[in-house]
Amino acid sequence: MAKSRSAFFCQECGYESPRWMGRCPGCGAWNTMVEEPVNPPGGRGLLTSDPGTGGPPLAIGEVETEDAQRLETGMDELDRVLGGGIVPGSFVLVGGDPGIGKSTLLLQLAAGVARQHGTVLYASGEESARQIRMRADRLGTIHPRLLVLAETNLEAIAHHAAQVAPRLLIVDSIQTVFRPDLPSAPGSVSQVRECAAQLLRVAKGQNLAIFIVGHVTKEGSLAGPRVLEHIVDTVLYFEGDRHASFRILRAVKNRFGSTNEIGIFEMRDAGLAPVGNASQLFLAERPVEVAGSVVMPAMEGTRPLLVEVQALVSASTFVTPRRTAEGIDLNRLQLIIAVLEKRVGLLLGNHDAYVKVAGGVRLAEPAIDLALAVALASSFRDQPPDPRTVVVGEVGLAGEVRAVSRIDQRIREAEKMGFDRMVLPRANLRSLSMKTDVELVGVETVMEGLEAALGR
Ligand SMILES: Nc1ncnc2c1ncn2[C@@H]1O[C@H](COP(=O)(O)OP(=O)(O)OP(=O)(O)O)[C@@H](O)[C@H]1O
Ligand SMILES: [Mg+2]
Repeated sequence: MAKSRSAFFCQECGYESPRWMGRCPGCGAWNTMVEEPVNPPGGRGLLTSDPGTGGPPLAIGEVETEDAQRLETGMDELDRVLGGGIVPGSFVLVGGDPGIGKSTLLLQLAAGVARQHGTVLYASGEESARQIRMRADRLGTIHPRLLVLAETNLEAIAHHAAQVAPRLLIVDSIQTVFRPDLPSAPGSVSQVRECAAQLLRVAKGQNLAIFIVGHVTKEGSLAGPRVLEHIVDTVLYFEGDRHASFRILRAVKNRFGSTNEIGIFEMRDAGLAPVGNASQLFLAERPVEVAGSVVMPAMEGTRPLLVEVQALVSASTFVTPRRTAEGIDLNRLQLIIAVLEKRVGLLLGNHDAYVKVAGGVRLAEPAIDLALAVALASSFRDQPPDPRTVVVGEVGLAGEVRAVSRIDQRIREAEKMGFDRMVLPRANLRSLSMKTDVELVGVETVMEGLEAALGR
């Protein structure tokens, strides 16, 4: 037998090197190289006589589509993030911080599919069957077609999956399962990669939907090699403030739907409940008549969401003033500060600025710019904005306010939530045809935006 060889692999990107290196040449990350045995090469060469299991090549028009067969989970928020339900044969990774509620989500999903579609096999390497039963009692997810299996050996899981032929297989988590034919420990780069690859073959070969849980490291990246994210069809992140009760499910990759959609849940004793009126939740603790707090009609995919942008500007005691941003890109904050200095004349150069989006939401769309500018100016001047006004608009480097997308949905949401005035880009106003009771104030520059929201 050939002597097994070992090599060093980067845990971030999977880069292979014969010797240890402090910095990975593949992705530039530090201290990510770990030593692992290399699987001996097959050495058989390519056989032209092997037809494989995927069937012969087909004309593209003859390939069956599966969209009509999506399995609805009974959880609307989850279905929307998946793009309308579970696609048979899809391979989905659910990532998230420890204790955020991944197992809870998947157990509820499993029960939903069991109720509506057929057998579900929930394999857990983290918890005993009794623990899972206790959770199921609490969540009310007991169902005769929901089968649990406490197992870490992937071959045994695959064996049982072949026996019971479920509609959905859940593996919680990919870091705890192992393939007995590989010498490395569960959770190591090669185990995670090979186990995922084997599950992929099961998913595609048996047209079985598989959900796996993946742990996220403290830095926020998925533990194990990045290749995991490439192997799967869909990557969902379950996130939220552990100390608050709501959770956001977000698709960061989806081969079967948009990645813009989010699902919002509230963690209760009886499990995760969908949050229909998210704006109400995010604005629940908003202080009124406080300088630095502005409400903005954001879009998360196709869903409008009112969020509160908060800024605190105070005289700095540091040589270089501090700027921190939570829920907003720091570069965006720096840019808006520069625009306020140069185009409006607010001297923020010797002030610290802290901004956050209340409730742990992350906003990436440029439409937040004007609300950010108003929040900063409001805190700087200690002048509260009108509490019944919402602000939206993208800001350019010349201080101009640019049009944003889906303005009518944003106006509807503001109206629904009882706001009666909106400061928005004038360009949006021109193309608007809807009728609304909300007073619309169109602005062309940041200066005008500040005047409209704060007064002079
Ligand atoms: N008895 C309970 N009542 C209400 N909420 C509970 C109860 N037990 C647990 N929870 C909630 O469920 C969360 C843990 O959920 P879950 O075990 O699904 O998380 P997880 O992401 O799978 O964690 P891990 O990373 O440890 O596997 C807790 O943080 C808590 O918010
Ligand atoms: Mg868990």
